[in-house]
Amino acid sequence: MSGKTFYLETFGCQMNAHDSEKVIGTLEQQGYQQVDNEEAADLLLYNTCSIRDKAEQKVFHRLNDYKKFARAGKRFGVLGCVAQQEGEKIFERAPYVSLVAGSASYRRLPELLQRMEAGEHRVTGLDDRQTEETFETDFTARKNPYRAYITIIEGCDKFCAYCVVPYTRGKERSRSAESVLEEARRIADMGYTEIQLLGQNVNSYRDPSGKKSFAELLAAVGQVPGIRRVRFTTSHPRDFTKDIVEVIDAVPTLCDHVHLPVQSGSTRVLRQMAREYTRDWYLERISWIKAARRPISLSTDIIVGFPGETPQEFEETITLLDEVQYDAVFAFKYSARPNTPALVMIDSLPEEEKSKRLQILLDRQKEIQRINYERHIGEVVEVMVEGYQSAREQVSGRSSQNKPVNFTWAHPIAPAPGSYQKVRITRTFPNSLAGEAVQ
Ligand code: SAH
Ligand code: SF4
Ligand code: F3S
Repeated sequence: MSGKTFYLETFGCQMNAHDSEKVIGTLEQQGYQQVDNEEAADLLLYNTCSIRDKAEQKVFHRLNDYKKFARAGKRFGVLGCVAQQEGEKIFERAPYVSLVAGSASYRRLPELLQRMEAGEHRVTGLDDRQTEETFETDFTARKNPYRAYITIIEGCDKFCAYCVVPYTRGKERSRSAESVLEEARRIADMGYTEIQLLGQNVNSYRDPSGKKSFAELLAAVGQVPGIRRVRFTTSHPRDFTKDIVEVIDAVPTLCDHVHLPVQSGSTRVLRQMAREYTRDWYLERISWIKAARRPISLSTDIIVGFPGETPQEFEETITLLDEVQYDAVFAFKYSARPNTPALVMIDSLPEEEKSKRLQILLDRQKEIQRINYERHIGEVVEVMVEGYQSAREQVSGRSSQNKPVNFTWAHPIAPAPGSYQKVRITRTFPNSLAGEAVQ
């Protein structure tokens, strides 16, 4: 099989994870075979993330760790957000790399691979924010055994002051509702029962044929026969409309969970970040979600230590946590990124101060979560099985609210990933629930 094996490592968000499934399918279609270690591969691919400096550094460390393989004739390709951001500069930093391609060029991968195979040393697929195309393929290699992803919208036009995504993923473009539904039906036929709709701003979705709003598309995917759970991520507060809550209330297969990144609780900081909403605007959307008939779980992303964030403004983020009572918070220290408008703002907060703020925030959230999670004790929740803890008697999965649930299983045959099990909650941990299967 010489010349036709590849190893692929993926960094970053779920969009990247799913892009990798499409890339794997495309490569297999081209006659390549995936292997699970660098040594056995002829082609080493890294699907990269550039969201924070650390993520980007990881990629260059990985390339450096394996450059010894270049001498053995193996080839290297860098895909994803660092590829798009750094472009041809990657060839200078890592001369043994022969392919650099951003996500908006994956449609052209077969051609790019052929050029590389023909001996071209520096093959690039880079985007100029012009493409209207989305990357759809019939060959997606679905690697997740229980959850099927569908990208419904690619790119981003929001240009938040701190963020690389509008530069790394190109302009915002949606797929037709028809093609999304067709894929959902195909996925159901494959036996999947959970679908996750993806987009950098999934709720900014606009059907090019004008037939369906985002909420209508959610409802339609939720009504595909065989589908039991539909998730969607990530929602942007600016485009979060009331009909999304109404449709969650109306369609039982839509999960009881909304991830709505706030980034900061201070209106002034939000303006500096160019988020295009205020604290009050955000909280109004939260009040809609809380007024739903179903108990919808909330999670968010937060950036601490954005340039110029005062101690009082940071405190406003803490009071927002108290007010919303999230079930999960993903918090990050601000990281200055290339090309972004925030780069010119004075990032004068010392690293220790950012770390201190992050710790205060995480401690407060831990307490909020402890109280939220303890409310589940005694409840019976439906869990979709995802896998097992070290011993097979410990099964792990997720509730509709997206909370991790671990439970004991006395039977000799463990339930399969993707199956559903009723679990009585008996204990809680900082980030998970635990209980026993109800036979
Ligand atoms: N499109 C999504 C977020 C995508 S990036 C949205 O608008 O909410 C995922 C998260 O990474 C962001 O929500 C933000 O909290 C964080 N992030 C993005 N850029 C960052 C930066 N420069 N420094 C620190 N965190 C960042
Ligand atoms: Fe980045 Fe803002 Fe776009 Fe989200 S909405 S991807 S944070 S620019
Ligand atoms: Fe990272 Fe690109 Fe996703 S920067 S978070 S892989 S969109």
